[in-house]
Amino acid sequence: MKFRPDCHQNEVTDEQIACHRRSFLKNAGLLATGGVLAGCDSRAQPASDKAAKGAECAPYNVLCEDITAEKYATSYNNFYEFSLTKDGPSRLAGDFNPHPWTVRVEGLVESPAVYDLEKLIAGCHQEERIYRFRCVEAWSMVIPWNGFALHHLIKKLRPLSAARFVEFETLYDPKRMPNQNRQVIPWPYREGLRMDEAMNELAFMATGMYGKPLPNQNGAPIRLVVPWKYGFKSIKSIVAIRFTDKQPLNSWHQIAPQEYGFYANVNPEVDHPRWSQASERRIGAKASLFNPRIKTLPFNGYGEYVAHLYKGMDLRKFF
Ligand code: MTE
Repeated sequence: MKFRPDCHQNEVTDEQIACHRRSFLKNAGLLATGGVLAGCDSRAQPASDKAAKGAECAPYNVLCEDITAEKYATSYNNFYEFSLTKDGPSRLAGDFNPHPWTVRVEGLVESPAVYDLEKLIAGCHQEERIYRFRCVEAWSMVIPWNGFALHHLIKKLRPLSAARFVEFETLYDPKRMPNQNRQVIPWPYREGLRMDEAMNELAFMATGMYGKPLPNQNGAPIRLVVPWKYGFKSIKSIVAIRFTDKQPLNSWHQIAPQEYGFYANVNPEVDHPRWSQASERRIGAKASLFNPRIKTLPFNGYGEYVAHLYKGMDLRKFF
């Protein structure tokens, strides 16, 4: 297979170093908050401040909000292949060995094959993205992911022009993922994106978090992160990537189509039958007595980067 030279070598720009230093200093309480030193978050800042900061860091990196403590992000999980409880995956996935790992690339693509993960992602521009992560269960976190923008990989694989969607599949191996012995989900877990969503700058493939390789419970060795959508779109432990001309059937939509759609864009105006989506609980954050929850933002606060993808669509119908 020939890779196009779109994927650069691993580079860390001065900008990124500046950003990270700021965010870590802030988290360590070493920077004053507000005013001059506020970060790039669009919800916290006037546009003029944002423009002034544009030169300094990628605007979608959430630097104003406190990063969720690693202990919460790695012990409060949804990973049904291991457990149905939040603390189950961190307790039960310890023996899972995600190496070696292969990924099957198939469907409407010029380079179908089974690839060693390292070869597949070699040369993809590695970076850190600090994103809000919002679950449909109305909790959220802010997580520093390590990995690369999904579009780098897609360009490398060269889908055919007929490809309109990309589908992802999690490993199916009940010996290694014991809860797959129960019929919780029609295994393997599946998810998908429309091609223009997948090519959006924000769609991310994570191979690490908090500067370390991805823990098993968070989807080692590689997972999707789609920050403007509910967390169930962010499929873990991916073993197959399929390019297709038909909208894939994602697992949660397959199980409960009245509750979970294909698009799953974070939308405070469309409630899930069991959870109001108007507000959310930030895991690990100190809740004040009078305001224990925070308001949910359309597209999880990433509207300026993604709202155009849904122009003219009724987002109540395509939920
Ligand atoms: N991927 C697989 N394969 N299996 C799962 O059960 N759960 C999803 C998503 N990806 C899930 C998955 C849901 S519902 C959420 S909210 C996120 O993973 C949780 O990611 P986290 O545990 O890293 O917070």
